[in-house]
Amino acid sequence: MSERVVLAYSGGLDTSVAIPYLAEQTGGDVIAVAVDVGQGGEDLESIRKRALACGAAESVVVDAREEFAADFCVPAMQANALYMDRYPLLSALSRPLIVKHLVAAAEQFGGTTVSHGCTGKGNDQVRFEAGLSALNPDLKVVAPARDFAWTRDKAIAFAEEKGLPIDVSAKSPYSIDQNLWGRAVETGFLEDIWNGPIEDVYDYTADPAEPREADEVVITFASGVPVALDGRPLTPYQIIAELNRRAGAQGVGRIDMVEDRLVGIKSREVYEAPAAIVLITAHMELENVTVERDLARFKRSVDQRWGELVYDGLWFSPLKDSLDAFIADAQRHVSGDVRMTLHGGRAVVTGRRSDASLYRYDLATYDTGDTFDQSLAKGFVELWGLPSKIAAKRDREA
Ligand code: ARG
Repeated sequence: MSERVVLAYSGGLDTSVAIPYLAEQTGGDVIAVAVDVGQGGEDLESIRKRALACGAAESVVVDAREEFAADFCVPAMQANALYMDRYPLLSALSRPLIVKHLVAAAEQFGGTTVSHGCTGKGNDQVRFEAGLSALNPDLKVVAPARDFAWTRDKAIAFAEEKGLPIDVSAKSPYSIDQNLWGRAVETGFLEDIWNGPIEDVYDYTADPAEPREADEVVITFASGVPVALDGRPLTPYQIIAELNRRAGAQGVGRIDMVEDRLVGIKSREVYEAPAAIVLITAHMELENVTVERDLARFKRSVDQRWGELVYDGLWFSPLKDSLDAFIADAQRHVSGDVRMTLHGGRAVVTGRRSDASLYRYDLATYDTGDTFDQSLAKGFVELWGLPSKIAAKRDREA
């Protein structure tokens, strides 16, 4: 039987050219799979037809926006996932979802090999291939950009030679990856890490320095899942999309950082992730109100590890599964409302309320109505410091 190559297809120049190229290289059929993770742009039907026009034997498009929101963005928010304390993992989250649909298409159409457009220098090749091997270890992988040194110039020449129906002129100076959880911009003049990003780099966010009126939003959570905005029940996808618009209009969620890639390179990345920053900030605050102290302290280390695993391409892994179970359990009481002001590039919490709140006014207050028995503190403090006190005494005597 000849090869059947399942290609992760974006509809853009590189993956369109990859269709006839892979057919030539392998002597087999190409099955194009495009997954909508909220990247915007063209409609799925034109993308599906373009793949066929470029010679694909089958062309599949999947609207995975709700799935991406509910099964990837929401868990990332529950883990307060910020790699290196800043990057909300947007690209790292979409890869395992795309992999899932590539594997499903391979099973449906008898695919034997999977192909992606990643280079050999980034994290995404790892995320694709580690994911594939976890879901279906029998599939082979071919990555033309990495394995055949396939470059953009070669792609353009090949497209012209074959007369492919694609526009080779539109070319951004940046390498961009975008989806519902945010947008990543690399390369071009940003590779000089002293160069500041210009407004032209941004698309999801307006200039935070421009004068405008503040926006206020109330986000409702039920057991760690965002379920409503300003009292209107919405799906996670709708909530994220609306927050991208509203927080983006206030310039919230711009991130400019140098990042440690899994392959050992440090790279300059500019991100914009308005909804992700708003939701993670709100969720963290609701955890502060509803999660017991030791559970909250421990969860911070779990959150950190979760983010690193996902960044490192191990979405489908035993440790990630077990951390998911812990995080899900820790979300049981994370229900209630968080009110935020969105303005000047910042998302600031101004109020929180929850039926599961552990905040006790009668314990916290310095006014009348205080029920905290301060006389208990004296003995507690003495015993708390006792081990250090004994050790210090020994050290002084020695
Ligand atoms: N550095 C980020 C990550 O590894 C973003 C990568 C985005 N890819 C791109 N082609 N711009 O998750």
